[in-house]
Amino acid sequence: MNNDKIKKWISELTLEEKAGLCSGNGNWYTKAVERLGIPAIRMNDGPHGLRLQEGESNDISGGGDPAICFPLACATAASFDRNLLHRLGKELGEQCLANNVQMLLGPGINIKRNPLCGRNFEYFSEDPLLTGELGLAFVNGVQSQGVGTSVKHFFANNQEHRRMDSSSEMDERTKREIYLAAFERIVKGAQPWTVMAAYNQVDNVFCTENAEYLQEVLRRQWGFEGAVVSDWGATMHRAKAVAAGCDLTMPGAADTDAQLIKAVQDGSLAEADLDAACANILKLVLRGVENRRENAVFDLARGEALAEEIASQSIVLLKNDAAVLPLNEDQKIAFIGEFAQSPRYQGSGSSRINSTRVVSALDAIGEMGLGENVIYAKGYDGEETDVSLLNEALSTAQQAEVAVLFVGLPSQMESEGFDRKHLRLPESHNALIWAVSAIQPNTIVVLHNGAPVEMPWVHDVKGIVEAYLGGQGVGKAVVNVLYGKENPSGRLPESFPLRLEDTPSYLSFPGEAGHVPYTERMFVGYRYYESKAQPVLFPFGHGLSYTTFAYANLRTDAPTLSKDKPVTVSVDVTNTGAISGREVVQLYYTPCKCEYLRPVKQLCAFDKVLLTSGKTKTVSFELQYRDLACWSPELNDWFAEPGSYTLQIGLSASKSVLDCVVQVQGEPLSIVKEYTESTLMKDFIMHPFGKTYFADHVEHMFTGMAKVGVIPEEALAQMKRGDGTFEAQGLETMMALPISLMLSFSGISEEEKQSLFQAMNTANG
Ligand code: BGC
Repeated sequence: MNNDKIKKWISELTLEEKAGLCSGNGNWYTKAVERLGIPAIRMNDGPHGLRLQEGESNDISGGGDPAICFPLACATAASFDRNLLHRLGKELGEQCLANNVQMLLGPGINIKRNPLCGRNFEYFSEDPLLTGELGLAFVNGVQSQGVGTSVKHFFANNQEHRRMDSSSEMDERTKREIYLAAFERIVKGAQPWTVMAAYNQVDNVFCTENAEYLQEVLRRQWGFEGAVVSDWGATMHRAKAVAAGCDLTMPGAADTDAQLIKAVQDGSLAEADLDAACANILKLVLRGVENRRENAVFDLARGEALAEEIASQSIVLLKNDAAVLPLNEDQKIAFIGEFAQSPRYQGSGSSRINSTRVVSALDAIGEMGLGENVIYAKGYDGEETDVSLLNEALSTAQQAEVAVLFVGLPSQMESEGFDRKHLRLPESHNALIWAVSAIQPNTIVVLHNGAPVEMPWVHDVKGIVEAYLGGQGVGKAVVNVLYGKENPSGRLPESFPLRLEDTPSYLSFPGEAGHVPYTERMFVGYRYYESKAQPVLFPFGHGLSYTTFAYANLRTDAPTLSKDKPVTVSVDVTNTGAISGREVVQLYYTPCKCEYLRPVKQLCAFDKVLLTSGKTKTVSFELQYRDLACWSPELNDWFAEPGSYTLQIGLSASKSVLDCVVQVQGEPLSIVKEYTESTLMKDFIMHPFGKTYFADHVEHMFTGMAKVGVIPEEALAQMKRGDGTFEAQGLETMMALPISLMLSFSGISEEEKQSLFQAMNTANG
C-alpha cells in the first residue's frame, strides 16, 4: 500500500522536488511537498535524552526545551544490562511521541579505539559484542514505540581530531570484526529506521560516498531496509552521496540541490538512484507519520526515576579495600569536591541536554535525611590547586571517619569536537586525593568522567567508585551505592590502562596529515592487553559487589559445534554472600591455533542476573559458529578454524575462574588460490588429491630425501616405526617446504606433475 503511494509520488515529483526531498528542512525536519500532500517528519538528538531544538536552532550549549538527561552510553554500557537499555529506549521513544518527534538521533555505537577520543562518553564500549547487544536493545526499545532511530556514526568514526576529513585506514578483517560488527548486529536484529553516515573517510572515501559499505555491505549483505542519513554537514558532494546510497543530507542543503539536478541532466547520476533515495526517504516519512500519536503524554516523574535507577545500576565499584564501603548512616562522613554539589553528569556537544533537574550527591543526602552526618568542603575550583580550598578540605576530612572525594574530568577537558590530550585528572583533583588520603586512612574516590583516567593514587585510597557521566540523577545513584541502598553491579565496558603509552593505538592515534592507520588492527582494548599480557590499571569487565558469587559446572550440551549446529553453554552461579546482588556473567573464548592472527581472548556472550543471598541460577548461552569466527578475506566470509576452543567464565577479561573446551568442526582453511610448484606441502596435502598423492608416495619421497641428507636417516626410521618422534620434530619443517622439492623425490615426471596440478586446480573451481 505504501509502496504504491511512494511509487506514485515519485512519478509525480519534478526533478527539482526530488532533489529538494534529499536534504532536510532546516536542522530537524525532512521537507514536505505540499503540492502532492507529502508530509514532513521531525528528528532530534539523541542519544541519552531528547535535545529538543526547533527550526534552524542548534544550540549545543544545553539549549532547547527541558528534557531528562539519562545516563550516557559510557555509563549504561557498564550496566551490561540489555533489559535496562531496552527500557531506556522505550522511555525515550515515549518522550519523542509526546513531543511529536518521529526519530531520535542515536544510539552512538562507535568503538572506543582510544581512550582519548573526545566523544567516548557517547559510545558504549571497546568491545563490539557488548556495543552491539546494548545498542540493539536500545534501538528495539525506541522503535517499539513507533519512533525511529539513527544508528551512528557509520563507520570507523573513532576520534574527533580532523573528524570531518580524516581517513580511517584498515584492512577488511579489522573493519568486519571491530568497526562494523555492532552495526551489523543492530541492522540484522532491529532494522533501525535509519543509519547515519559519519563525517570521516574510510580508506580515502567519505562515509557519505562509500558505495561499497552503504550499498554492498549495509544494504545487500546485511539486508538494511531503512534510509541512510548524513551526519550534520557530512555530505561533501550531493550527487556522489546519492549515487553511493546516502539518501538524506542533513541539515537542509537547498543551495546544493542544483548539483543533483545537474548530475541527473548530464547523466553522471542515474535518475533511478535519485528515485531510490527518494523512496527510502518517503518510506521513512510515512513510517513516522503513521506512528504519530496526537495525544501522547510523557510521565516525567517515571522518566526521572528511571534515570536514577539506570545510573544506580551502572556504577562500577572498582576498589573496596577492608570493606570501607558501604558506609553506615551513623558514620560521620566528609563529602569533598565540587562535584559533590554540582556533579559532572553529561558531555558537551550535540548530545547536551537541558536537564529537567539535577540531583547532586549532597541533594540526595539531604533527601535521605542524612545531612547531620555529612560535612562538605569544595576542595578545588578549576584545574589548578587552590591552597585555601585544599586546607579547608583537609580539616573537613580530619573531622570525619571517612572522606569521600568527588573528582573527575571537567567538561572543558572532554567534549565532542576535540580529543583529550592526556589521561590525567586535573592537577587540583589529583592534589586533593593525595593530600586527603595522606591524613585520612578511609578515603574513597568517586569519579565523574566519560572515559578512562590514570590513577597514580590508586594504592593510596581504600575505595574507588566509577560513576561515569551518569545523567541528571547521578548524585542519588552515587549515594545509593555509597550507603548500600544499591548493591553495585556495573562492570567496566572498557580497559583502564596504566598509562596512555600502553594503549594499543598509541602510535597511530590521531594519525598524521589526515590519515589514521589502524595499525593495531583487531587488537583493540582488552584484545590487545590480553594478547600481549600487558598489565592494566583495571581490566575490561571488572567490577566489585557487596556480595560474593561462585561459579560451577561450566559445560556444553554437545562436545562439538559447526556451522549448522550451535551448542548451549551453561554455568551455575551462586550468590554466596549475605545480600542480594546482580552478577554479570561473562563468557570469553580462546580460539585454536589458526592461519589468522587472533586475539587470545574475546567476549562471546554475557548476561546479568539478580540473585538473592544463597540462591543459584543456571545461566545458558547459545553459541553459534559465527560467535567464534573471524573474518576471512580469502573466503570473503566468516570462518572458524576447526579445532579446540577454550571457553572461559571471566570475572573480567583478565581473570578467568572456570573453563571448558568445545570442538569446532568444519573445513580447514586453504589459503591457496592456485596449486603450483611453489605451493607449500602443508597446503598441498589439504587438497583431497594432494592428500591421496602424499599418502601413496610418502615413503618414496621421504626415502629420497633421507638419501640426499635432507632429513636424517634416523628420522626416517622413526617415521617408519610410527613412534611419532619424527612427526614432532621434523614434519613441521617438511610441511613448510615447497611441493616442487618434495615431488622431486617422488619420481614424478614433469608431465604427470603438471597434470596433477591441473586436476587439483580444476577440482578447486
Ligand atoms: C553529530 C551527530 C548529531 C548531529 C545533529 C553532529 O555534529 O556528530 O551525532 O546527531 O550533529 O546534532
